[in-house]
Amino acid sequence: SRAASSLQQECFDTVRSVEENAEIDWDKLGFGLVPTDYMYVMRCSNGVKFSSGVLNPYGNIELSPSSGVLNYGQGLFEGLKAYRKEGSSGFLLFRPEENALRMKMGAERMCMPSPSVDQFIHAVKETVLANKRWVPPQGKGSLYIRPLLIGSGPILGLAPAPDYMFMVYAAPVGTYFKEGLAPINLVIDDTVHRATPGGTGGVKTITNYAPVLKAQAQAKSKGFTDVLYLDSVNKKYLEEASSCNIFILKGNVISTPATMGTILPGITRKSIIEIARDHGYQVEERLVPVEELIDADEVFCTGTAVVVAPVSSITYQGQRFQYKTGAETVSQKLYKMLTAIQMGLEEDKKSWTVEI
Ligand code: COI
Repeated sequence: SRAASSLQQECFDTVRSVEENAEIDWDKLGFGLVPTDYMYVMRCSNGVKFSSGVLNPYGNIELSPSSGVLNYGQGLFEGLKAYRKEGSSGFLLFRPEENALRMKMGAERMCMPSPSVDQFIHAVKETVLANKRWVPPQGKGSLYIRPLLIGSGPILGLAPAPDYMFMVYAAPVGTYFKEGLAPINLVIDDTVHRATPGGTGGVKTITNYAPVLKAQAQAKSKGFTDVLYLDSVNKKYLEEASSCNIFILKGNVISTPATMGTILPGITRKSIIEIARDHGYQVEERLVPVEELIDADEVFCTGTAVVVAPVSSITYQGQRFQYKTGAETVSQKLYKMLTAIQMGLEEDKKSWTVEI
């Protein structure tokens, strides 16, 4: 009966609110989807403003077959993480305002209304608190938070959808690549490009991701971890990997492709640049020709999901270039400094973290 099921729901809610941690094997977390309890949903109908949102049980949503997102790919996503704070019962978000601003920028490019920065951050906080039993214990991983903005209203001719949905769900995660924290092996596929000038490479639209699945699958079938893409005009300059930005180190100089429209402006990318500069490295954001891979000392990838991933080799036109990896590397040092701030192990002098 309805009364019994609502009583049962109340019991579940009580268990969830008192339970410290969900009962799963926290040592086995990767980046697979572990469903959590609640998701946040907020709508915008025929207008420019989102109404207030609600927490719903995590589950399927109903969409019109003619929704803008299903027919024309009008959608954006974000990614950020919550960690259990060291020595406290709270949780730390890392620079959530940056994600909110990036979504606003992307929404403008994709002709969508976007939640305000406050609405975005509120939704993220609510989602974390409602799912707090799923935030991994310290040292075991983080709660990955996935905000989505989609054209949910029906549209047949090509035009912006009439209605929009903003959702936030979350899942506990460990390391992104199957290698764990071990170095990864990239391959350059110069026949496939992730972005074009004037396109949407610089915003986090859902349509930037499915087009690289084929190149990624081919790379994986040959034993590589991921693909590194070159620019589509000159086929000469580094852009990024399927799921993360790229950095190279030579001596004291760290170089990364400049964000000029075809590169995703990563929040981890931006943070690593700042941390590296603070610690005396010269960081250059510029065009990085593929030839610089030949004599780089180190290469590493950055992203919310991958954090800082050391690259042990890059294969280009049949040649394999190898890089320094291990405990003594600059990338390992940067990884430690970044994650110490994110987990609250180190004083957050830049006010990057938000405690909830
Ligand atoms: C992230 O790092 O948060 C991303 O959005 C990349 C995604 C392919 C997992």
